[in-house]
Amino acid sequence: MHNDQPIGIFDSGIGGTSIWKEIHHLLPNEKTIYLADSKNAPYGQKSKEEIIALSIKNTEFLLKMNCKLIVVACNTATTNAIEELRDKYDVPFIGIEPAIKPAASNSKTQIIGILATQGTLNSALFNKTTEKYQNTKIIEQVGHGLVQLIENGDINSPEMIKLLHSYLTPMIEANIDYLVLGCSHYPYLIPQIKKILPPHIQIIDSGEAVAKQTQNILREKIGFSSSKKSKPIFYTNTDSKVLSEILENKYDVEKIEF
Ligand code: DGL
Repeated sequence: MHNDQPIGIFDSGIGGTSIWKEIHHLLPNEKTIYLADSKNAPYGQKSKEEIIALSIKNTEFLLKMNCKLIVVACNTATTNAIEELRDKYDVPFIGIEPAIKPAASNSKTQIIGILATQGTLNSALFNKTTEKYQNTKIIEQVGHGLVQLIENGDINSPEMIKLLHSYLTPMIEANIDYLVLGCSHYPYLIPQIKKILPPHIQIIDSGEAVAKQTQNILREKIGFSSSKKSKPIFYTNTDSKVLSEILENKYDVEKIEF
């Protein structure tokens, strides 16, 4: 079975490229279209209704591009809108949720930390997940300001380092042994986070799991592309410079209105 239509991937901005990289690495023959809604970033402080409306707008765009499957490469959009998207459209959706399960299951101290947006931590879906791990203390921290700094290209700024110290120090003091990155922007902060955390604290994100799930859904329901390596397409609705830079200037990025 072949299906040469593209995989659509969207995020509130450039962070979901951390997920795109995993998908492209695992499935290099698949055509991919990445949509960065940076004009509306961050989604993390928006209401559920606003997040649903933006997720519908992004989905409509990707469906017009004939996508066979949509990856919601945003924890905030997944935890607030994926049920509505699945109800509204026939195309399969793959979402990203904070990797609480592997962290809680492997933690020796039974204390884990999660850094995510307010929208994710307040969502019913996230709270349903954490209820399953009553024996693990989960220290939740909203990453106020982090997404905006990443969107501005200020990953290494003193302000970023200061914010990370203020969010991570209480977790270190509380004796966490796992830090869950619950926002697709945050994997770009791993080098800075590693400088702050003691080496025994493991950092986990969900990128690889999402890529594997994408592969499974293609295998079971849709079919893989028959083409050889194809060129990914990137769209943004703001200045394309930061998106290009995060992709190490290897790909063309097109600025469009949406
Ligand atoms: N990258 C997103 C996430 O995974 C959203 C960040 C935001 O727009 O607040 O949650």
